[in-house]
Amino acid sequence: MSSGELSAYSDEVRRVAERVSKARRVACLTGAGISAESGIPTFRGAQGFWAGRRAEELATPEAFARDPEDVWKFYFWRRGLLREKRPNAGHHALAAMEAKAAEFTLITQNVDDLHRLAGSRNVLEVHGNIWIDRCTGCGQEVRRTIEDHSDEIPWCGACGAMMRPGVVWFGEMLPDGVFERAQSAAGNCDVMFVVGTSSVVYPAASLGSWAKANGAFVVEVNPDDTPLSGVVDVRFPFASGAVLPAITNALSAIRELNRGSVSARGAG
Ligand code: OAD
Repeated sequence: MSSGELSAYSDEVRRVAERVSKARRVACLTGAGISAESGIPTFRGAQGFWAGRRAEELATPEAFARDPEDVWKFYFWRRGLLREKRPNAGHHALAAMEAKAAEFTLITQNVDDLHRLAGSRNVLEVHGNIWIDRCTGCGQEVRRTIEDHSDEIPWCGACGAMMRPGVVWFGEMLPDGVFERAQSAAGNCDVMFVVGTSSVVYPAASLGSWAKANGAFVVEVNPDDTPLSGVVDVRFPFASGAVLPAITNALSAIRELNRGSVSARGAG
């Protein structure tokens, strides 16, 4: 996308920034598209993340029960890919927006940890996190880091059972309570962003329309149309790495203006 195309949306950028500046609560749902500019392939694009290996083959409880070593190898490979990846301008812009907003909840379907690395604090990972090992026996979780990544199948230090990746697999329930918190954040916000998701995987895909039904101003950032596109208030058909920084910059400008007018009144 050229910056010229986004500059044709400067009114929309300002309008959204004004909404955010007045909002008491802001929520944002992200999907694989926000990490595309970090070099992580999306799930449903031509460069599909699972190219070469079918997700249904490996990311299931049945595959793990059948051959845990094969499934772990796949996750070690994915962790290895992610080690090289860094947050992009879109992730950083959302962390900056959180710092400026009164209350901000970031709901992500991504397991790549890039929002946290960018500095986002209030993050709900509805599909888990690839850096977590979770015990198949007692449920204890160990958060790995890029530094202590190893290719050895982990065993639980507490009960001795095999650990599994702490992500949601096909056919599994979402982690306890996390979706309820996401739904509450979406249903109680004034502005809701839906960024880089094809909006086809439920229940996460319901959050944008849930926010809209509860009176939020809904903004979609996605180069392609999605099933949600028809119901949003503003749609930016561009990459998140361009749109989100433009919105946070506009938000900073509004804040500066407001500060200026307050101090000018104070001086008079
Ligand atoms: P998808 O791969 O389905 O969709 C990615 C979306 O990002 C598409 O709509 C693209 O148009 C858009 N996109 C691509 N590049 C972009 C960019 N630079 N900026 C903004 N948007 C861009 O990924 P998700 O919607 O996240 O679940 O997929 C949802 C779930 O399906 C995943 O969490 C995963 C998968 O099954 C589990 O693993 C449980």
